[in-house]
Amino acid sequence: MSVIERIKEKARANPRRIVLPEGDEPRTVEAAARARAEGLALPILLGNAAAIEAVARHRGVDIGDIDIVDPAGSAKAGDYAQALHELRKAKGVTREQAAELVADPMYYGIMMVKLGDADGLVSGAVHTTGDMLRPALQIIKTRPGMKVVSSSFLMDCPNKSLGEDGLLVYADCVVVPCPTAEELAHIAVAAADTARTLCGVRQPRVALLSFSTKGSAKHELVDKVRLATEMAHALAPELLLDGEMQLDAAIIPEIGASKAAGSPVAGRANVLIFPDLQAGNIGYKLTQRIGGAECFAVLQGLAKPCNDLSRGCSVEDIVNTIAITAVQAG
Ligand SMILES: CC(C)(COP(=O)(O)OP(=O)(O)OC[C@H]1O[C@@H](n2cnc3c(N)ncnc32)[C@H](O)[C@@H]1OP(=O)(O)O)[C@@H](O)C(=O)NCCC(=O)NCCS
Repeated sequence: MSVIERIKEKARANPRRIVLPEGDEPRTVEAAARARAEGLALPILLGNAAAIEAVARHRGVDIGDIDIVDPAGSAKAGDYAQALHELRKAKGVTREQAAELVADPMYYGIMMVKLGDADGLVSGAVHTTGDMLRPALQIIKTRPGMKVVSSSFLMDCPNKSLGEDGLLVYADCVVVPCPTAEELAHIAVAAADTARTLCGVRQPRVALLSFSTKGSAKHELVDKVRLATEMAHALAPELLLDGEMQLDAAIIPEIGASKAAGSPVAGRANVLIFPDLQAGNIGYKLTQRIGGAECFAVLQGLAKPCNDLSRGCSVEDIVNTIAITAVQAG
């Protein structure tokens, strides 16, 4: 069974309320109908009911059993505005500004998740990553003990001898441009958690990647990865984790054995931590475009799950992301 099929099976076992702020966007409406019909989640579409129903009719989909909430006429808007003002007043957000913000479906959706009226949020068919990420970072914030919000990419590779039956978890590929050693350590721990809880990987084996393996090269960039490895060990002593390590030493058993003999991870890593966002973003695209892997993006480290889509996403991508978010919420 592929990783996304396993995730969908988990989502079906415990359907959660997933709010979709881009409620009248045609692919989103169709994806909500499919996610509901497949029992993956209980989607909530935000927007004007008449407009959303018109889109559904045009796409030929049935949204009869899907909740629609219009932030413009919502009885809860006042409560959300007051709560947002309380949360952000130290940052200068007045009660009036908070009321204007919650009229925006993105902020309204984030407040639903914050206050427990939804279990997770998916957006990005129209909005940019930053449009969703900024309010999520400001309002939902990191989960206790976690220093940064970051991302993992689930790379389902055609070569099933790699990682965990072909699955490699990459982090961070979207959020933190230039992590400190401490942030890198938190990203490593969060990615291991994503591998375990979302993908069902029983034993995450985490490699912190570099252009050096165990001191083969000397540079301040290598020192940062080595320090991050030590910090990650301190954060999660039970985790199988090692670094600094080159990619081939991390995933190819013979090279791992020769370059990093005795490492609990070398040659069989299933979670790969990139030293910065340039490496991570390029790395996942190489694996996807040249290596032929299927890839699924997920945000990690938030106190409650919110996930981003690419603006070129298909209906299938949105359904998958709804399922991923529902499992994170479970
Ligand atoms: C994530 C991102 C959007 C944050 O935007 P920003 O405008 O720079 O955010 P700010 O620095 O003003 O921070 C806003 C709030 O989020 C918090 N924050 C920012 N990044 C954070 C992170 N990774 N984890 C946790 N909190 C974070 C800040 O502490 C701040 O909180 P506060 O307002 O309560 O003090 C920015 O880091 C970014 O653009 N990342 C790269 C995204 C990207 O382009 N990826 C490629 C797309 S494929």
